[in-house]
Amino acid sequence: MFDAGFWGGREVLRVSDGFIGVFDSGAGGISVLKNLVSELPQEQFLFFGDSANAPYGDKDPTSILLLSRRIVDTLLGKGAKAIVIACNTATSAAAATLRDEYPDVPIVGVEPALKPAVLAFPRGRILVMATAATLTLEKFHRLEEQWARQAEVIPVACVGLVELIERGDLSSPEIHDLLEELVGCYRDKVDAVVLGCTHYPFVRDAIRDVVGDVPFFDGGAGTARQLRTVLEARGLLADPDATGCVRFASSKDTDEELALYQRFFELDL
Ligand code: DGL
Repeated sequence: MFDAGFWGGREVLRVSDGFIGVFDSGAGGISVLKNLVSELPQEQFLFFGDSANAPYGDKDPTSILLLSRRIVDTLLGKGAKAIVIACNTATSAAAATLRDEYPDVPIVGVEPALKPAVLAFPRGRILVMATAATLTLEKFHRLEEQWARQAEVIPVACVGLVELIERGDLSSPEIHDLLEELVGCYRDKVDAVVLGCTHYPFVRDAIRDVVGDVPFFDGGAGTARQLRTVLEARGLLADPDATGCVRFASSKDTDEELALYQRFFELDL
């Protein structure tokens, strides 16, 4: 199924069959994409941001699953050999169902990096920033249950933050004010921060200004290692001498949006 409207009718794909489809509700997943490209520079990546439908984090799980399935169907229809769900929210709401629906396709997701944070700070206080959906869904409850005996886990749903990041001004006063409201009370009171939404690494400096200079953990590097492992196990890795590439597509199909994706990709995180 190819829905030209969905992809904006652009010829986005100059990658050949056998690319890796990466998606998020918007530009946030580009923080994961950067890890994927450094881990597997010989691969071809197509990143799709569903910015027209962002944020996912305030939506119900069924809507998130429907949006995610539509993207996965389209990426596979275009010849993707694997899918990376570069979104904690969509991973929580849709990964298990999509893996059942596509048993032959490697589908790698991302989850809040609570484990490395707790292992680094046993008995510490760990602030977990994520979307409301991620923190409400079963997947996070199981993760929390597993680690909350070894540290104090403080989950905070950062409602409204993704919308501001999607606007592209990563040091705006609005972002600072919202962070003060959401996590200002934890200033110098936590040992580490888990960025449980792939948008948040883009505002790490703004979060540090509000919370204090503590270590940050996110799921990007772990997702990249996991992708390498599953591609290797299935004999799907690109030739080590191949030339990799990255292409961007968005449901908000404007030159400005694609320029924003490119700018996010070029940022040092
Ligand atoms: N970037 C996403 C995540 O990791 C989703 C943000 C949103 O759309 O609310 O959860």
